[in-house]
This record gives sequence, structure tokens and C-alpha cells, in this order.
Amino acid sequence: MDSILVTGNGPLRGQIPIAGAKNACLTLMPATLLSEEPLTLTNAPRLSDIKTMTALLQSLGAEVSSLQSGQVLALSSHDLTSQTADYEIVRKMRASNLVLGPLLARFGQAVVSLPGGCAIGARPMDLHVEGLEALGAEIELKDGYLHAKAPKGLIGAVHEMRFASVGATENIVMAATLAKGSTVLKNAAREPEIVDLVECLRKMGAQITGEGTSTIEIQGVERLHGATHQVVTDRIELGTYMLAPAICGGEVELLGGRMNLVGAFAEKLTAAGVVIEETKAGLKVSRPNGRVQAVDVVTEPFPGFPTDLQAQMMALMCTAEGTSVLEERIFENRFMHAPELVRMGAAIEVHGGTATVTGVEQLKGAPVMATDLRASVSLILAGLAAEGETIVSRVYHLDRGYEQVVRKLEGVGAKIERIKSQ
Ligand code: UD1
Repeated sequence: MDSILVTGNGPLRGQIPIAGAKNACLTLMPATLLSEEPLTLTNAPRLSDIKTMTALLQSLGAEVSSLQSGQVLALSSHDLTSQTADYEIVRKMRASNLVLGPLLARFGQAVVSLPGGCAIGARPMDLHVEGLEALGAEIELKDGYLHAKAPKGLIGAVHEMRFASVGATENIVMAATLAKGSTVLKNAAREPEIVDLVECLRKMGAQITGEGTSTIEIQGVERLHGATHQVVTDRIELGTYMLAPAICGGEVELLGGRMNLVGAFAEKLTAAGVVIEETKAGLKVSRPNGRVQAVDVVTEPFPGFPTDLQAQMMALMCTAEGTSVLEERIFENRFMHAPELVRMGAAIEVHGGTATVTGVEQLKGAPVMATDLRASVSLILAGLAAEGETIVSRVYHLDRGYEQVVRKLEGVGAKIERIKSQ
């Protein structure tokens, strides 16, 4: 297995291009299942999770071609052959469950494996099931698979989610586009990736209003047609690289970045003493002098502070002046990076969903292990600020969500290399 060697090397300067959003692309790709006509996605990120979704769609009989070195995906669900999402693929990536709503809506049936546990928590699918049942689906759990049926088609309804789940919102909205009549989804998630999905569905002929608010209304239509859509900028990759100059000093411009994608996160960075400026091309981030100040963080659904930036923010807080409290409210087991950061000299105490971090003057390089996608990049950020060498192993986690991380960080002056396994 490959690893990444990072050597702390002082301030960073230059530009980093930000890719299309992994999480948006993973919900836009299954939208192809809603129509017989082709869907083209531009600005797609080149990541292993995208390959996993490609394999899943191909296993259903969809055609997926990757053009322009993977930045354009041409999808067609003209001749689907299966409505079953197999455990072997779903267990690799929870977002595989996003085929459930579209398959059910178009074919009146779908069989989708439950994803099972993952490193950061149990992540059940009850909210997806409740929403689809509200639209008239009958869903049974058999042998680890959800068997969903709607023999007479889905029927629009008013449904309020118990929690604003991102994936459940996406599945329910996609399903409702082909339901009979209108659906009102209350307490819907408001993430930018959902807004992006709705914009694409609208290009495909769906009638939807209210995306980006907690009430989304969908007027079902007979059929959807083809479309071309550009994937929105990845706000998590953006936030991650905003932290690079924050933790190392210097000034970096994040190309394609927009403030409205990272509002709550940017507010915390600013409170910590980091300077963020909007430019024509994106966001310019600098840490003019000295250490950042400790700030407290609570993760929440959008527009709150994203759970997907908690690990990276913790790396910054490890180097801050003062003590910060980070509260994780979305996933129950998302502090696995803490013991690895402690190996680098950080002072962190974890009690349940709360981590108390007392900043130290200097982190020290160490061999550490990536435990999940965002944890792995938090260790790289810490390594950039540490004295000496840090070796991050198990970087396959990183490949799921960050394209060309070595090249992007090298481009702003970091000393970082990928070490291929023998
Ligand atoms: C999406 C993102 C992920 C991000 C998360 C929260 C994708 C592909 N992934 O994941 O990167 O960390 O949003 O912003 O977009 N839950 C239930 N029952 C359900 C569904 C969810 O209890 O039926 C719980 C989960 O266990 C978790 C919380 O709700 O504790 C949030 O999950 P959800 O918003 O659904 O996240 P995902 O869509 O899986």
C-alpha cells in the first residue's frame, strides 16, 4: 500500500485549482437512471469513489464513458439490465445507496444492499426508507438487502424527515421527480450538493422548487430527458486547502473557490486569525503573523460547520494558541485522527463526541495511519506544519476524495511525495 511522505517546510505560496465536488458527482451520476436519454457531467473529479459509482452503474447495465482524462462523464441508462445494487460494491462506498430512489422511480422496483457499518459510524438507511415509503413504496429488508417495490408507481406526498439527512434528501427528491402528483419534503437537507442535483434534474425536465431551503417541492412529471451539467466546486476540498496556508503560513489562492460554499467554516478561520479575501478567480487565504487563535467548533448540517472539515480543523487547532473544543454532532465515531495527531505531539482529549485540543508550539513528524478519507488529509496538513518527516500510510482513503493531492501541494511549495509500495 502506498504512503505519503511530508516534510515540514515553512510557508506556502501560489495557487491550487479546486476540483468538482465528489459528493455532488456521486449523486448526479445515479440521476442518469431516471432517464433513457444521455446525461453528460463536466468538471467531474478524478477519484476512486467516482470509479466505484461507475462500476455500480455499469453493473446495472448503464453505459459510462470517461472523457477528457476523466473530467467529463458521459452516462446513458437506455438499456438497463438490472435493478440490483450488489453488496460487493455497496460495502465499498455508502453513496451507492443513491441508486435506490432513481431505480424505484423509473422501474417500480429496486434491490439495494444495506451499506453496513463504516469507520465513522453506523450510518443506517431508515430515513431513506421512511421517505420512499411515504411516496407509496413497499420496502422489506431481506438477507441484508432492501427490496423496494412500487408496482403502481410512486405517488407524491407530504413528508417531514426526522433529521436532515443529505443522502435521504437526494434519494427522495430523485424518486419524487417521476412520482404522480406533488411531493413536499420538509426538514430537507440544504447542502450545496443538493442544490446542484436539483439544478441538474431541472435541466432534465424535473419540476422542483425550494432547493437550498428546508422545504423542497417536487411536481412529478411523466419522464425526464437528457442534459449536460457542470459539477459544482468541491467545498470540502476547498476548505481543506484553505487550511494549508492557515497551518503553515504564507498565502495561497484557491481557484474556483466561493465564499458561499464555506460560510460557517470561513467564519471560524477568520476568528482564528486567518485572512480570507474573495478574488476574481477564487479565494485568497493567508496567515500573516504568528500562531492562529483557538476557536470552538460544533459540526452541524449545512449551513453549519461541516463534519467533513472537522478532522482538518482539528489539525489546525493542534497548533493554535489556547484551548479549543470541537463537538462532533453528525457522526458518532469521527475522532479517529485524534490519537494519530497525538503521536505527532498534539494535546487532545476525547470524551464521547467532544474533543478538547490544547495547541502546542510545534508538532513533530511521525509515522501515522490514515483511518478514513478526511482523517487522512488532516494528517497531511499536520505533517506540513510539523518539524521533520511524517509518513502517512493507508493513503487509499485519500484517493477516494482528493485528486492529485501531492501535485497540488507541491505546486505551492510543500515538500511532499508519494511512496509507492513495493
Ligand atoms: C453525506 C456525505 C458525507 C457527509 C455527510 C454529512 C455524500 C456522498 N456523503 O453522507 O461526506 O459527511 O453527508 O454531511 O454526499 N442517518 C440516519 N439514517 C439515515 C441516514 C442517515 O440515522 O437513513 C444518520 C447518519 O448515520 C449520520 C447522519 O444521519 O449520523 C448524517 O448522515 P447523512 O446526512 O445521511 O450523510 P450521508 O448522505 O451518508
